[in-house]
Amino acid sequence: SKHYAVFGHPVAHSLSPRIHAAFGKQAGIDLRYEAIDATHEAFFDALEAFAAAGGLGANVTLPLKESAFALSATTTERARRAGAVNTLVRLDGQWHGDNTDGAGLVRDLTQRHGLDLRQRRTLLIGAGGAARGIAPSLLDAGIGDLFIVNRTPERADALADALGQPGRVHPRYLADLPSLGEFSLLINATSAGRDGTLPRLPMSLLGPRSSAVDLSYGEAAIPFLAWARAHGAHEAIDGLGMLVEQAAESFALWHGVRPQTDEVYAQLRDRHA
Ligand code: ATR
Repeated sequence: SKHYAVFGHPVAHSLSPRIHAAFGKQAGIDLRYEAIDATHEAFFDALEAFAAAGGLGANVTLPLKESAFALSATTTERARRAGAVNTLVRLDGQWHGDNTDGAGLVRDLTQRHGLDLRQRRTLLIGAGGAARGIAPSLLDAGIGDLFIVNRTPERADALADALGQPGRVHPRYLADLPSLGEFSLLINATSAGRDGTLPRLPMSLLGPRSSAVDLSYGEAAIPFLAWARAHGAHEAIDGLGMLVEQAAESFALWHGVRPQTDEVYAQLRDRHA
C-alpha cells in the first residue's frame, strides 16, 4: 500500500490519519497514513527515514511548517506566499512543498458555510504561522480591506509588509480595536485559545452580519467563538471544516482525485461539537 504520514509535535491527537483513511476508502486507494511525532531537531532525519521506507507524501503541522518550507527542493507559489509548507510530495528523490491551508479555509467558508467573502471588511487576529498561511488566500478570495492585529505588533507589521498590498492591508495595535469599527469577517488565528486566554476584544467589532471564524477546533476554539456568539455574530465557525478541506486538497495532490468531504466532516463534527 502507498505510505503517507503527518509530522508534528505534538501530533498524537491529529485527526489527519482518520481523514485520509476515510478518503482512501472512498476513492478505493490502498493507503497507509500514520502520525509521526518529531521535534524541530528530529524532523529532517525522521522525514528522510520515512522517505527511505517508501513514504510518498506527508502533511506537516505545528511547529514544523516553516522547516518543511526550508527543506523543500521546490515550492508552489502559494507555499512561498505563506512562507510555510503543510504538504510534501516525494518526487525524484526530493521533497516538493505546497500549502493547502488557505485554499482549505476558503473552500470551507464559501462551499460548506455558504459565505460570500467578497468585499468583506476583515479583521485578522494573530500574525504567526497560521495567520500567514491563510491571509494570501483570503485576499485572493476577494475580501475587502484586511486589518491585522497581534499581541506583538512587529509581527503584524511584518505580515502586512509581506502581503504586499499596502492600500488594502492595515496593521493595527490591539489597543486600536475599539476605534476600528465593525467587521463582517473576523478570524482568530492566534493560538491563545489553547491556553484558555484571548486578547480583550470590544463588542463594537461585531454586527448582526458578522461571521466569526476560529482556525482551531475543539476546546481551543471555544473562547473566541463564545465571545462572538454572545455578542450577536451571525455565525461562529471553527476550524474543523478547514482541516477536512486542506486534507482533501492534499489528497488530490497525492492521488489525483478530489474526495467528497461532507461525510467525513459530519462524522468528525459528531465528536467535536
Ligand atoms: P501558529 O502557527 O499557531 O500561528 P505561532 O506562529 O507561534 O503559532 O503564532 C501564535 C500566534 O498566537 C501569534 O500571533 C501569537 O502572538 P505573538 O506574535 O505576540 O506571540 C498569538 N498568541 C499566542 N498566545 C497568545 C495570547 N495569550 N494572547 C494573544 N496572542 C497570543
